[in-house]
Amino acid sequence: MRTFALIALFIFSGVLAAFVFGFDLKDTVQPLEYDDEQEGLEDQVVIKFSHVTSEHTPKGLAARKFAELVEARTNGTISVEIYANGSLYNDQDEQQALKENRVQMIAPATSKLTSQFPKFQILDLPYAFSSYKEVRKAYEGSIGRTLLAELHTSEMKGMGFWYNGFKQMTSRTKALLHPADFEQMHFRRMPSPVIERQFQALDASTSLLPFNKTYQNLNVEFIQGQENTTSNIYTKKMYETQDHLTVSNHGYLGYIVLTNETFWKNLSPEQQKIIESSLADTTDWIRRHSIETNDAHLRELKRTESISIHYLDKEQQEIWRHALEPVYIETEKFTGRELIQELNQIKDQ
Ligand code: SIN
Repeated sequence: MRTFALIALFIFSGVLAAFVFGFDLKDTVQPLEYDDEQEGLEDQVVIKFSHVTSEHTPKGLAARKFAELVEARTNGTISVEIYANGSLYNDQDEQQALKENRVQMIAPATSKLTSQFPKFQILDLPYAFSSYKEVRKAYEGSIGRTLLAELHTSEMKGMGFWYNGFKQMTSRTKALLHPADFEQMHFRRMPSPVIERQFQALDASTSLLPFNKTYQNLNVEFIQGQENTTSNIYTKKMYETQDHLTVSNHGYLGYIVLTNETFWKNLSPEQQKIIESSLADTTDWIRRHSIETNDAHLRELKRTESISIHYLDKEQQEIWRHALEPVYIETEKFTGRELIQELNQIKDQ
């Protein structure tokens, strides 16, 4: 009884001292005793997954789906933390962050690998694809395998390709219906020499800008137009600064999913298998949902009534195609003839 009273007095005086002198009680808290859960925490693997688009885009939704699958299939021993909207790294520094293992996964647009790996330029060719089926054949067939193999010396491991959608042109000043409408205009572009050549072929100039600086530069009219998927245009509110959107489907924007090579090698075969299967299931999912999401965002753009939507007729499409043909000749120097031939075979099938 006496011992109990002494202990109570000791605790009471401690709390009183903390209250009066402002001690932080947490400083005096002892570490928790050993238990199994603590040990489990040490074994937990955290994958930081950084990307630059909104959570509601195909990539944002796919990253969430992938995280859920991995966490469920590993009982939470692998957790995937998603950093959307470039909140951790923007598209200009996320590859370096991955190489230094500051993040463990990213999914940049394939265009953003073209400077370091010129063969990736093949995917940016105007009118490279005229259907989703053709895009799939390239990503999941021999072109995709060739491109993934290109990365082997880079400390980045290519895990596969994810889908977004066909790119559309937007402009502040006028409807872009004919190649001549591009003359003298200034556009934002991703860091891909093919995209630069594409705008040059249309007599337009470009500035290379990160994705999350595009809205701002459209707003101050440093650039008058840009190209993107309807999902990216809608979720980045570009319709607030652009009066016209042409459904041109002149190029395709998709992603390569990358992980840090050393991080990957340090995972157990079992962990690697679960990540690979979760990624494969997410890829199946995004292949279908990216189409629905872009269609839904096009409908939303129409609903805003602040941007006019224009469709090209058959004749106009042919004129655009013809104007952009010279881009192929220049690009072949970087991709090699073989890849272009493979692309043409996909088109013929
Ligand atoms: C993205 O979808 O990741 C961004 C594409 C862009 O930079 O336009």
